[in-house]
Amino acid sequence: MSSGIRFDRVSVAYDGTTVLDSLDLTVEPGEVMALLGPSGSGKTTALRAVAGFVRPAAGRVFIGDRDVTDLPPYRRGIGMVVQQYALFPHMRVEDNVAFGLRARGAAKGEIRRRVTETLEMTGMAAYARRHPRELSGGQQQRVAIARALAIRPGVVLLDEPLSALDARLRSDMLAELARLHRELPDMSILYVTHDQVEALTLADRIAVMDRARLREVGTPQELYRAPRYEFTASFVGNANLLPVTVGSGTVSLAGNELTVDTARAASGASATLCVRPHLVGLGSGPNQITGVVSEVQWRGATHRLYVDVAGHRMLADLRELRTPPAPGDAVDLHFAPEDAVLLAAGVTDG
Ligand SMILES: Nc1ncnc2c1ncn2[C@@H]1O[C@H](COP(=O)(O)OP(=O)(O)O)[C@@H](O)[C@H]1O
Ligand SMILES: [Mg+2]
Repeated sequence: MSSGIRFDRVSVAYDGTTVLDSLDLTVEPGEVMALLGPSGSGKTTALRAVAGFVRPAAGRVFIGDRDVTDLPPYRRGIGMVVQQYALFPHMRVEDNVAFGLRARGAAKGEIRRRVTETLEMTGMAAYARRHPRELSGGQQQRVAIARALAIRPGVVLLDEPLSALDARLRSDMLAELARLHRELPDMSILYVTHDQVEALTLADRIAVMDRARLREVGTPQELYRAPRYEFTASFVGNANLLPVTVGSGTVSLAGNELTVDTARAASGASATLCVRPHLVGLGSGPNQITGVVSEVQWRGATHRLYVDVAGHRMLADLRELRTPPAPGDAVDLHFAPEDAVLLAAGVTDG
């Protein structure tokens, strides 16, 4: 079953406070959409509106062509996974996974086949007879995912499903989720996270949320390479955000003329230049600027330099240096014109 999700100007309020403000967003059939934003930005609320656990104050929610706004959760045909596993503790793994199928009145043979298949798919077949308390956190989360997938829902909602796991396991589980989606390609996934790496890794598109509102939607590459807003630039990856004055084909940063694409901004305007720290080079090159090192961090594979450029802090993430500069040293930094993006001032995020 392929369906997709559509939010049509969906607003949710608690006690008169709007926590989701007129959300317009479409998740295509088979698409993985990440809802990315800081804590409290309204991500879970949006997901709960799809699941049917909160009622919008305004707007409609569609799954496929069906307006589900007035349907109870169990009639929406959705699979859902939340942060804290939420397995039924008194039920064995196989019964947890069978739960949704039984609730739908599936035939016994069908249930057995589906449970086996789904446990195999999630690598949990050997644990079918165990209880949740006999499993690690990562295993419990696999079972929670199996339980959500057992009914072969057209739409799966995942709310920070990996945030209780340690970093290594998180990375493995991300790869697993990507594989599961390749096995079930018709399934639409709405994946809530505050973690940019999860969003960049897994999503076909990312919807960036900030303070109850959708800020920007795009592919990971679009949002990373060419964000429109400062909020996106700093939330999706690290960013140097430098205040500049726009010329024609150049911008001026504290007296330094830099060559960048100025198509997005009017000449004479104030704007913000975004340069990713890993695209900043040390030494001479195009768009060369001089600054004074304030801090040097060794991070194993890289050195991060904090450089003061005419009163503005610039970060440079460099492949590990043999002879790193020291705080107080003057250094030249540079970046390629095509590696900088101009963010228009006034379209900041107020
Ligand atoms: N049941 C509730 N009652 C009152 N306020 C709530 C409730 N659920 C969430 N909120 C508030 O709504 C806002 C958005 O919450 P949420 O959607 O959970 O954000 P996120 O998932 O992005 O962290 C927050 O300010 C939160 O405190
Ligand atoms: Mg949340």
